[in-house]
Amino acid sequence: MKIGVLTGGGDCPGLNAVIRAVVRKSLQYGHELIGIKEGWRGLLDNNYCKLDREAISGILHRGGTIIGTSRTNIYKVANGEETVKKNMEANGIEALIAIGGEDTLGIASKLFKAGVKVVGVPKTIDNDLNATDYTFGFDTAVNIATEAIDRLHTTAEAHNRVMVVEVMGRHAGWIAIHSGIAGGADIILVPEKPFNIEAVCDVIKKRHESGKSFSIVVVSEGAKIQTEEQTDKDGSFILSSLKKDAFGHVKLGGIGNVVAEEIEKRTGFETRATILGYIQRGGSPTAFDRVLATRYGVFAADLVNNGYWGKMAALRGKDIVAVDLADATGTLKTVDDDLLSVAETFFG
Ligand code: F6P
Repeated sequence: MKIGVLTGGGDCPGLNAVIRAVVRKSLQYGHELIGIKEGWRGLLDNNYCKLDREAISGILHRGGTIIGTSRTNIYKVANGEETVKKNMEANGIEALIAIGGEDTLGIASKLFKAGVKVVGVPKTIDNDLNATDYTFGFDTAVNIATEAIDRLHTTAEAHNRVMVVEVMGRHAGWIAIHSGIAGGADIILVPEKPFNIEAVCDVIKKRHESGKSFSIVVVSEGAKIQTEEQTDKDGSFILSSLKKDAFGHVKLGGIGNVVAEEIEKRTGFETRATILGYIQRGGSPTAFDRVLATRYGVFAADLVNNGYWGKMAALRGKDIVAVDLADATGTLKTVDDDLLSVAETFFG
């Protein structure tokens, strides 16, 4: 069988490890692999590359994706679905392995309903994909953010400053909560819980009154700030741009600067902001992510070989299992109250 492999959405450490595992296992089954370049766009434009043993040599530890990625939404393009089907047929591509997050796998799920033979692999540093305990890439992002928090700790202490660290996490605060707990943050602000800046300042003031001269605040890019007038409401995002992508997402970013400015203004403590940004997505995956990505890739090859279409490889406890693509998409997995309350134990 000729299998097309694509990576969609934001890049993520471990993508190459999945591609390598898919190819190695599928070649053992006697299948032929083809790389679809730059996500779903490659299927609209007929942009492909070879995915043989040589092409995937030496990529296990490499960041990025050797087949490229994009945030192309075929359902925002006229006749997108028909074009994909037509191009698959014309190029002899019988099945697809889509490696991506909510948006990429949402398309895979729709295509499956439209009769395309497709399976999915869950990717995102945000870890917000439903039906799996962890997505690959998350562990790497958490480790990068934790190292950054450790480093900011020493400079915060040396200068008696409040350090605000903005991490990624559009809809869910998984990176913030994990790196914040691991890094000993004094406050963690996540999208799941809109925050009141005055309450944040009160926590910091109390901490400093009790003898501490510095504080670390970790904030998700998607955390929502309540204005003075809307304390009972949901709060607002801070946007770095109003432009929307093909999936209707606005560009977040800048909440760290807003929080830092407000803290300095309201408490008088010298405050600095650091936005970690794409550092969290680039570079080599951790050993954990390499293993998880490899297990997902091998499992996806098994799903295809056995004809289990419309499924996604998922981690449940220590096992990799098959879940319906439809269950993995549509609703995001957000940080639960138990974990939030563990983090809150150490606030202040
Ligand atoms: O999807 C993961 C993510 O890292 C989000 O946390 C972030 O909002 C988004 O990607 C930004 O990606 P880009 O700028 O590439 O669209």
